[in-house]
Amino acid sequence: MNDLRRYFENNSGNLIDKWAHYFDVYDRFFSRYRGTDVHLLEIGVYHGGSLQMWKNYFGDKARLFGVDMHPYCKQFEDEQTQILIGDQADKDFLHRLRDQVPRIDIVIDDGGHTMTQQINSFEVLYPHVSPTGLYVCEDLHTSYWRIYGGGYRRRGTFIEHSKNLIDFLHAWHSENPSQFKVSDFTTSTYALHYYDSILVIEKSPISKPYRKTTGVRALPVEPPEPTYPFWEKTWLTAKGALKRLLMQPPNSRKT
Ligand SMILES: C[S@@+](CC[C@H](N)C(=O)[O-])C[C@H]1O[C@@H](n2cnc3c(N)ncnc32)[C@H](O)[C@@H]1O
Repeated sequence: MNDLRRYFENNSGNLIDKWAHYFDVYDRFFSRYRGTDVHLLEIGVYHGGSLQMWKNYFGDKARLFGVDMHPYCKQFEDEQTQILIGDQADKDFLHRLRDQVPRIDIVIDDGGHTMTQQINSFEVLYPHVSPTGLYVCEDLHTSYWRIYGGGYRRRGTFIEHSKNLIDFLHAWHSENPSQFKVSDFTTSTYALHYYDSILVIEKSPISKPYRKTTGVRALPVEPPEPTYPFWEKTWLTAKGALKRLLMQPPNSRKT
């Protein structure tokens, strides 16, 4: 059992409300920040128990920020913890929050769990997370529950929104940049880690991936590679030739 889970199981402080399997995921990604001056922001303060838990886990140097819509959560402020009151679905509030909290290494979204709340918070806060930080969105099962705006493969759910992020992680390999091209997300995201009901997005500055071979060939022939069907190949060749022609300066074109 890791330290976080042990703290949770023995908790006699303020109430903590978490799914039990999250503790392994937290420890896997958060342990490297223990004892550091990590800046962690959690959306959803509730009874303040999880902020107490983070303080215990990360240590005295950590700076904690809690966000909640209920003003009574202000009472959980202390020398290490600042509470910001507002609606996580309100993008103006989130932009103001970015000015108030200039550095965030970890965001945990454990707020209201509706689709607009999760998507708006991600859209505004993800770019603000430190270049090697983490964004954690919890309770993704609400993407399947109608009362939260969810439904299986329903448009506009957080889970469907996050599937687009899988595309953008791969945008380096796009064959049609006018439709699908490298974005800020592509160049700043190392990995998306999906677990039941919890997504951890790991940031890191990323440059264009490249393929490389080392060593000597050991096969007498190359294994077959996929080829385009005849008409598609003809069309691609013609398109390439036309593009090259149009890109030539006009005075160098043969008449
Ligand atoms: C699941 S509880 C948080 C649990 C807490 N993180 C814990 O681990 O014990 C959800 C909290 O989110 C807050 N909340 C709900 N909707 C919100 C919104 N739109 N903006 C900000 N906070 C919200 C609620 O007031 C509640 O305190």
